[in-house]
Amino acid sequence: MSSLAVLHASHLVTLAGPNRPRVGCEMSELAIIHDGGMLIRDGKIDILGPSDEIEENARGSEIVDARGRVVLPGFIDAHTHLVFAGNRLDDFERRGRGETYEQIAKAGGGIWSTVAKTRAANDADLFTQAQKQAAWFLKGGTTTAEAKSGYGLTVEDELKILRVTKRLNQETLLEVVPTFLGAHAIPREDRESPERYVDLVINEMLPRVAKENLAEFCDVFCERGYFDLEQAREILVAAKKLGMKLRMHADQLTNSGGAKLAAELKATTADHLEKTEGQGIAAMKSAGVQPVLLPGSVYALGSTCYPRAREMIDAGLAVVIATDFNPGSSPSPSMPMMLSLACTQMKMSPAEAIAASTINAAYSLGRGHKTGSLEIGKLANFAIFDCQDYRELAYWFGFSQTHSVYVRGRSVL
Ligand code: NIG
Ligand code: FE
Repeated sequence: MSSLAVLHASHLVTLAGPNRPRVGCEMSELAIIHDGGMLIRDGKIDILGPSDEIEENARGSEIVDARGRVVLPGFIDAHTHLVFAGNRLDDFERRGRGETYEQIAKAGGGIWSTVAKTRAANDADLFTQAQKQAAWFLKGGTTTAEAKSGYGLTVEDELKILRVTKRLNQETLLEVVPTFLGAHAIPREDRESPERYVDLVINEMLPRVAKENLAEFCDVFCERGYFDLEQAREILVAAKKLGMKLRMHADQLTNSGGAKLAAELKATTADHLEKTEGQGIAAMKSAGVQPVLLPGSVYALGSTCYPRAREMIDAGLAVVIATDFNPGSSPSPSMPMMLSLACTQMKMSPAEAIAASTINAAYSLGRGHKTGSLEIGKLANFAIFDCQDYRELAYWFGFSQTHSVYVRGRSVL
């Protein structure tokens, strides 16, 4: 049996606690062991506690000295658009000149320009780019990432993206959770007949995705100019019938009732929520929907309208923070950057931000029983950082503090 002992972490941040997402004050309880250690056997956590106790059991194990460092469960990034071709450097410059996300999209940039490049890319090129990007996630300490399709918008191109996503999961150490987002935008060829595209999503894409078992979740971009409430409801109801769980891009640019629809459909998550107000928050609370907040896209779009994280925490919602990694509105795979934004812009505490990006995120992806915290029996997915206090992860920003990252007890860097 292979074993690994991690010893003398200044903060071993375990997040041990109840077997469910954390709410209210629980989000501040990180269950830190000072001078902590853990023994890992066959990729799982076997013992965990004060370092001297672990040392007594560590004979014959490979030793990792974490003295003076923070050990954290690997980040769980619950909202990304990981597979796409190219970049959006032109949009980036145009925004710098004052054009808005919506204006750029109308003028032929935006999601559509990435769709054109992604359609033109073959499987191998798409995989090569995604593999490089998956390595960025691991380097930042992320060990699980959700990944949405949505830059294909034809049956074959959406399947192509989901197959690349599956291969990513098989061939890299990043655990990738697939979400079907065929309803990301109305493709240009269907601009005049959006209903035709909604039909295609429901009657052709969803059944193929389900048959090939290519997605655990279905998502819809519910927004003015994209999919309205009625179209989103139709698509999500159909996905649910096929056994998929639901996530939703809701209330990002306008308060259009997205959070309430997520509650009505008992979606697992409602994401973005920059424009969600009290009623939407209350609806999510009563339906048990987890909000996924994406401060990276607010920042990168140059907006100041961050979602109301404090109100959501005070209302008892199990808040999640994610990167929204995508070429247009959030070109960052860095969870530490999101921690910084969560604290400085959304007034979360460092502890709340960490709970939101580990254990709560893991539950939102249906993986809370095996990752997201450091507890006996869970996967040995963790990151070691070059700082002594967990709060430093959110405090310093703009450079990497990652020392090393482990997936199932194997060092990935
Ligand atoms: O989450 N809001 C829609 N989708 C992405 C943006 C995708 C893009 O601009 O390429 C988002 O922000
Ligand atoms: Fe998104």
